[in-house]
This record gives sequence, C-alpha cells and structure tokens, in this order.
Amino acid sequence: MEKIYPDSGVELSEFTAKNYDKVMNIASFGFYRGFIKKAIADLNIQENDKILDLGCGTGRNILLMNKYVSSDNSVLVGMDISENMERQFNEKCKSFSNIKFINQRIDQLIESDQKFDKVFISFVIHGFPHEVRKTVIQNAYNALKPGGTFNILDFAEFDMNKMPFHHRFIFKKIECKYAFDYIERDWKDILKEYGFENASEKFYFKNYVRLLTIEKK
Ligand SMILES: C[S@@+](CC[C@H](N)C(=O)[O-])C[C@H]1O[C@@H](n2cnc3c(N)ncnc32)[C@H](O)[C@@H]1O
Repeated sequence: MEKIYPDSGVELSEFTAKNYDKVMNIASFGFYRGFIKKAIADLNIQENDKILDLGCGTGRNILLMNKYVSSDNSVLVGMDISENMERQFNEKCKSFSNIKFINQRIDQLIESDQKFDKVFISFVIHGFPHEVRKTVIQNAYNALKPGGTFNILDFAEFDMNKMPFHHRFIFKKIECKYAFDYIERDWKDILKEYGFENASEKFYFKNYVRLLTIEKK
C-alpha cells in the first residue's frame, strides 16, 4: 500500500499485511490471541447487532464478534483499503453470509445510509495525524444509530516519560510517531465534542491498552 501519511505505522507494507496475524502473535509472545478474545468479549455484543469494523484487517476480529451474533439478523461489515487484507478477510469469512467487506478509505468522509449499533476500530486511529483522526470520528458518528456505541481499542492515555525504561524503549522503537501524541490526548473530551457521551473503559496489557466505549447521543 502506498503511504499517504509518512509517519504512519497503520498503512502497512504488503509483507506486513500478508503476515499480520502471525506478526501480532509473535510480537506479543503469544499473548495477543487471549487479549483480543477478551477485548471482543468486553464489547458486550448483542445477538442482533449490526457492527462496522473500521480498518478491519484480516477479519480475525470480525470472526470473533460473529460468535456472539445470530447470522440471520446481524450484519458485520469490515472496511479496509488493503487488497491483501481484503483477500484474507474474504477467505476467512466466506462461510458467513452476514459478514461483508467494503474496500473503503476511512480517512475520508464516507457516504452511506447504513446505520450500525456498534462501530469498532482497533489499532488504527492512533496511526493517523490528528486532523485525519477527526474525519474517522465523524465517520463513526455518522454510521451509528442514536444510542449506538463507538468502541476504540487502542493505546490508553499515558505519559511515555513515566514508562519503565524497557517499555519506553520498545514503544519508541516499534510505534509510529503519530502514536506519541495520541497517548497524550484526552479522548473522552475529544469525543464529547462530536456528540458522544457516557464513556466506559476497560484496560489490558499493564494499562497501556484500552477499550474505550462511548455512546452516540
Ligand atoms: C494495524 S492494522 C489493524 C488491523 C485490525 N484492526 C486489527 O486490529 O487486527 C491497521 C489496518 O488499517 C488499515 N488502514 C490503514 N489506513 C487505512 C485507511 N485510510 N482506510 C481504511 N483502512 C486503513 C490497514 O490496511 C490495516 O488493515
């Protein structure tokens, strides 16, 4: 994929996209598998939920969500721009008629009348410049039904300078520069400005990762 944002770590190379799930398993020393299952369980998915996954990747997360829904009444939509991710997603999800992939940029305003109960985004929004994140938030807002929730699974808010040295060293080495300002912002306040309210949070990986759930008014 050609990079639009020079410091982004979420615009993946073909190699990383092709091996994404393996890379995550190995880089996390095997902890990713259990963590992502737990985070998806924490989404409190209801049987008939319609869910949009922005920057969905390989479809691993949507398949985990699919365990909680009824295939007759739910719709699970993954959006991504990587053709490599699209191939893996379609292969993984081919037996489920309630799951769909849309090749769509999420950093530009999306025009669609389809409304969802939940919008999920995991490890994508930190990887854009802040102005671009605002468009992603607007897309999430527009795609939700009133009372629906925006669920951001990503880095929590923390002070990099207060991290133990070895954690800080790894974070600075592997993360894209956009993540460094992402962790310093007050995301509940930012989301309130867009018309979201009633935030709740779950934390993982020594509180460095957070699932932030917030409702559309
Ligand atoms: C770090 S991966 C996360 C994938 C998935 N959400 C997960 O947690 O496994 C980032 C994903 O965002 C996608 N992506 C990057 N820029 C995008 C854009 N502008 N529009 C849509 N998807 C994008 C990439 O192709 C990639 O699949």
